[in-house]
Order: sequence, then C-alpha cells, then structure tokens
Amino acid sequence: MANIRKVAVFTSGGDAPGMNAAVRAVVRACLHNNMQVVGIRRGYKGMIEGDFIPLASIDVSNIIQRGGTILGTARSKAFMTEEGRKIAYDNLQNHHIDACIVIGFTGAGVFSKEYDIPFVGIPGTIDNDLFGTDYTIGYDTALNTVVEAVDRIRDTASSHDRLFFVEVMGRGAGFIALHSGIATGAEAMLIPEVENQEEGLLQYLRRHGNKTSNIVLVAEGNQMGGAQEIANRVKEDFKDYDVRVNVLGHMQRGGSPSAFDRFLASRLGVAAVEALLDNQRSIMVGFVNHEIVHVPFNKTIKHNRNLNTILLEVADILS
Ligand code: F6P
Repeated sequence: MANIRKVAVFTSGGDAPGMNAAVRAVVRACLHNNMQVVGIRRGYKGMIEGDFIPLASIDVSNIIQRGGTILGTARSKAFMTEEGRKIAYDNLQNHHIDACIVIGFTGAGVFSKEYDIPFVGIPGTIDNDLFGTDYTIGYDTALNTVVEAVDRIRDTASSHDRLFFVEVMGRGAGFIALHSGIATGAEAMLIPEVENQEEGLLQYLRRHGNKTSNIVLVAEGNQMGGAQEIANRVKEDFKDYDVRVNVLGHMQRGGSPSAFDRFLASRLGVAAVEALLDNQRSIMVGFVNHEIVHVPFNKTIKHNRNLNTILLEVADILS
C-alpha cells in the first residue's frame, strides 16, 4: 500500500451537478483510510494562490444533494504556463501534499508529466465527452434538466404551431443534444460530430412543415452556427414559419444532482482514493458497463469519445 498521508482534492473546469457528492466521497474515503484531506479552492487557480483548507468529515455533511461545487472552480490561465505550474507544485510541497485528486479532470495530464506527484482524475462535466468512461458526473442531471425544459417548450410550441430552435451545451460533443432529442421526440438534432446537416434539415422542414410543432435541438458546437443564426437562415427559406429561439445556457449546469449522478460520484470518489492506495498514478477512474475502470491520462487525452452511431439512426427513424 502506498505511503500517502495527505491528499489534496479540488474541482476544475466547468462545474457539474454531483461534484459535491464526489468531494464528499473523496474526503470520507480518505478519512476512512486514516489519511488527512485538504481542499483546494477554485481549482488550479487556488493551487497557485495557495488557497488550501483542511477538510473534516463534518465539512462535507449535507452537500451530497447540492449543485455546483463547495470548493469553487475556475479555468486558470496561469496554470497554462510553466511558471504557474511551478508555483502550484511548490505550494503542494509547502503543504506536504502527497497526492492529488482532481474532480473535473482538466490540466492533470500536463502537470503529472512535469512533476512527480501521484494524480488521480475523476470525470466531471455535463458534456459527457471524456474518453474512458460511459458517463461523466453531471451529465445525467443536465440531460434531465434539458428534457424538462424542452417538454415545456413543446407545450407552447404546439399551442402556437411554432418552430423552435433550442440551443444546448456541448461545444465539442453532441451527447446532450442527441440524447435529449431522442428523449423529447425532437424533430432534428444538430451536433458537432456530423457534417453538412443543413440540407437535411431544410429537406426535413419541407416534408414535415405541417406538423403542429417542430423542435430542433442545436448543440452549441454544431457545424452550422448558433441557434439564432440558423433560425435566421431557415426563416429566409420558410417565410411562413413562426420561428423562435431558446438558448438554455448555464441553467443546464445548475441544480440538485440526480440519483444517478450522486451514485456515480460516490463510487468514483471512493475508487479514486482506493486507486491512490493501490499505487496508481496519472489515471482517471471511469465507469464502463457499470464497473470501475482505470484509464491512463495519456489515453483519455489522446482519444475522443465517439457518439454511438446507432443513436443517430434511432434519431433519424423517430423524427
Ligand atoms: O463544462 C462544459 C461546458 O458546459 C460546455 O458545454 C460549455 O461550452 C462550457 O462549459 C461553458 O463554459 P463557461 O461556463 O466557462 O462559459
């Protein structure tokens, strides 16, 4: 068993519902194994600024159900520089940190290549776009949030015979758009992974324009542009259409985590601590076929998570 006495835990990148459940699991699993735990506030930014706080069991009471992250998070520009990472490492040394667990998983690859400190990552992002895990923490909650919002939009869309373009998050991946599209019976989904979707969309609208409502889910990173831009172009071809646009934005990232995200975060948090004790380093803990897996950082970074193309066919058949 590795000789780790003090572990630092922090959240990084965009927040995601379930991150608090993961913080709780890491803290409690460390304490269970007689290790001290320190929280770093606002991710790598706090690591550089030396913003470290000791965490006891009571500090993570009553947070499993809360959205956001009690530790705060940031996208640190300073950490992108060698100088920044050197300061971060010195601060870890000054606080006698033996190992790090990062929830959110950004930045860990480069850091653990440069510095000799065990690092374990826990996948947390609503986008579900990390290679090596079937699910990332926060995705299930965000998906349900989008489904609820689109159901509401459907009510008003069908009352007014309108065509809605609903923009959802996912700048590099279409999981949220595709899965919520299937779950809400959306008429079309525009996603980053598929090229040349414009003609298909126009053809679809020509054929099915007489439906009482049409909802097109637009992943923000799709190849045709933002929802408003697409709506403007469509409106030029379909002058009779009553077109509206909704950009769901950051409301998709907030809210109490679903049961699945709490469960996933709890399992991955414990698994991350166990991985450290098992002398693992520079790995992400993932969840594949409902089992915990260890994925080396270089694999998760090098590979893109692909969408299941069967889902594209399902979406096609049903729309
Ligand atoms: O966390 C991932 C993500 O939600 C993306 O889908 C989105 O493009 C991005 O974060 C938004 O980031 P920010 O909150 O920094 O604007």
